[in-house]
Amino acid sequence: MSKEKEGPMSLKGKTAIVTGAARGIGRAIALALSRRSCQVVLVDIHPPIQTAELVQKEGGQCMEAAVDVSDYSAVKKAVEEAVAKFDRIDILVNNAAIIHRGTFLDLKPEDWRSVLDVNLGGTFNCCHTVVPLMISQGGGRIINITSIAGKMGDITASPAYGTSKGAINTFTKSLARQLASYNITVNAIAPHAIETDMSAQWSEEKRQEVINSIPLKRLGKPEEVAEAVLFLVSDGASFITGEILDMNGGYLMD
Ligand SMILES: NC(=O)c1ccc[n+]([C@@H]2O[C@H](COP(=O)([O-])OP(=O)(O)OC[C@H]3O[C@@H](n4cnc5c(N)ncnc54)[C@H](O)[C@@H]3O)[C@@H](O)[C@H]2O)c1
Repeated sequence: MSKEKEGPMSLKGKTAIVTGAARGIGRAIALALSRRSCQVVLVDIHPPIQTAELVQKEGGQCMEAAVDVSDYSAVKKAVEEAVAKFDRIDILVNNAAIIHRGTFLDLKPEDWRSVLDVNLGGTFNCCHTVVPLMISQGGGRIINITSIAGKMGDITASPAYGTSKGAINTFTKSLARQLASYNITVNAIAPHAIETDMSAQWSEEKRQEVINSIPLKRLGKPEEVAEAVLFLVSDGASFITGEILDMNGGYLMD
């Protein structure tokens, strides 16, 4: 067993739910938690088979849940199945999201609703089903993956996306206040320009423009977001709650 799995940062005996775990940032987070011996529940609308294979190949323990996070009863059922398998839920990472490209004038009411339903509604659904368990267990850690767009407004997407992320930032702070007395911390990570399928939708010109605008002159990596999650679930972060952590190569310093 590697030092990482046994050391002071070990999450042995803990269980984490990671949404949007089939690829990108969610996959990197699930793998990073698993490498610390955390059992991971991989939630995604697309069966997260490849992520599960990667976790298992490295000797980790996981469960797949092909679930649409905007469907409350499906989320509730998946959480019940996770508890039946792993007994407890210590960590919840709300990472699943969709984006709608285009301008406000291009945005159809149904697109507005689906972005809010998945991004904000999905975060609510997972928190609402998991928090009672965390309370009964004596505590927990919730990490919401938001976006720079939630602070600055949308740069490359339609207003639905940034609005959903801004609302999750507020939800993070509200929950942090309400759940602190239960020993549950609630924080968010607000990335910008991370190399995933979501950012691969940019044209080469747009990509260069984004890189040039970032003081560190590169895109971020999903593994760098995962490192921040590892910190926020560690004992070292036990006095941090209600924080929206920027991860943007210096693009926004606030
Ligand atoms: N990539 C970036 O540059 C960037 C920047 C800022 C914020 N983010 C945020 O990071 C998170 C992950 O982004 P990513 O780049 O890995 O995106 P991605 O599109 O590569 O992955 C998102 C995952 O969420 C899943 N998903 C979508 N709708 C779902 C639903 N209804 N139910 C369950 N799962 C669903 C997808 O199947 C996919 O596996 C998102 O919250 C995103 O908003 C990403």
